[in-house]
Amino acid sequence: MNSAEELDIIKTVLEYCDSGRTHMEPELMMNPVSNYTDPDLLEREVETLFRKFPIIVGHVAQLPEPGQYFTHDDTGVPILVTRNRDGEIKAFMNVCRHRGARVATADCGKSNTVSCPYHGWTYDLDGKLRGVRQPSGFDGIDKASLGLVELPAFERFGLIWVRPSVSDTPVDIDAWLAPMAEQLGSLNLEGHSIFREWTLHRDMGWRIALEGFQECYHFCTAHKNTACSSYLDNQSVFINQYPHVRHAVPLTKITELSKQPESTWDYRPNFMTQNYLFPCNFVQVMTDHVYVHTIVPTEPGKCVFKCIMLIPEPARTEKAERYWEANYNVVRTVFDEDFEIGEGIQKGFAAGANEHFVIGRFETSVQLGQKAIDDALEGRLAV
Ligand code: FES
Ligand SMILES: [Fe+2]
Repeated sequence: MNSAEELDIIKTVLEYCDSGRTHMEPELMMNPVSNYTDPDLLEREVETLFRKFPIIVGHVAQLPEPGQYFTHDDTGVPILVTRNRDGEIKAFMNVCRHRGARVATADCGKSNTVSCPYHGWTYDLDGKLRGVRQPSGFDGIDKASLGLVELPAFERFGLIWVRPSVSDTPVDIDAWLAPMAEQLGSLNLEGHSIFREWTLHRDMGWRIALEGFQECYHFCTAHKNTACSSYLDNQSVFINQYPHVRHAVPLTKITELSKQPESTWDYRPNFMTQNYLFPCNFVQVMTDHVYVHTIVPTEPGKCVFKCIMLIPEPARTEKAERYWEANYNVVRTVFDEDFEIGEGIQKGFAAGANEHFVIGRFETSVQLGQKAIDDALEGRLAV
């Protein structure tokens, strides 16, 4: 069943095919190259974008049962994500309150408590300090105030979101995701299984990696032997759901819909949808599966890319395994094509050839994303 938004997107694409037009922003954007290279700006970005906004850290399939946990380090804040005995998702700084050691050292596990490897202080999955070894040396400490530092964490649309800093004000995650809720809700991501998960550390600033997913102008050049043939060339529709963006990339076969009655149109089989969820999250919806990816800066000129491939049900047969593996191999190749170009851009900064990058009128999500980032850095956008 298409939403009104999806029906509009289909109509717009068919109209573009007829007229030869494509989605255009009112103006070109001249983006200063310092936005990509200035280390002070990067510090402000980390402090704001990667501390004050919710980041996707995983999928619910990683924590199906109470007592399970995993660790997450991509944001630079060591995070421990748990499902407590009541079944709620919780997140904490993975930092011991005694003398700061990393409490949970495994990538994931199942246990009622986690015990610090340094001196053995023990915490439960609600972050409460449960045990202090040889407590006579700690007479008078207030155990209640020495729980792990809690971070705002949410389970929405099958995804686990964490704000990587403590917050005095509650985070209204539903209001934050509201502009994308109809679409994300329709995907049943909570019912999906993880087929593959991978993390790449790449030698490119996070903004370069981000922008690779924010336009499709590059498909038929950067991906000429891979993604190009499946999609209409540069005919995306962008829906500005500020500060998020729905970026709908039509498959070539959509042109057949113009010969069929509107009542038979179906959005999903005719699009790849690259949903940008501010500041660094993407939910990339394919015709029959989904990639969830995040891009986070690690230091100037470097970033970490994490991707989870979700499939609608576990691959139970060899045939299914082969089918999804083939999809996985294609996407790895396509993403690598983007990242190779991105690392070349990063290297080119040293030459100083450009003072500005010229962002075209149809490179819409790059323009919208840049404006939202500016808004957040200048205090006009908050969760
Ligand atoms: S630092 Fe964790 S118990 Fe000492
Ligand atoms: Fe690409």
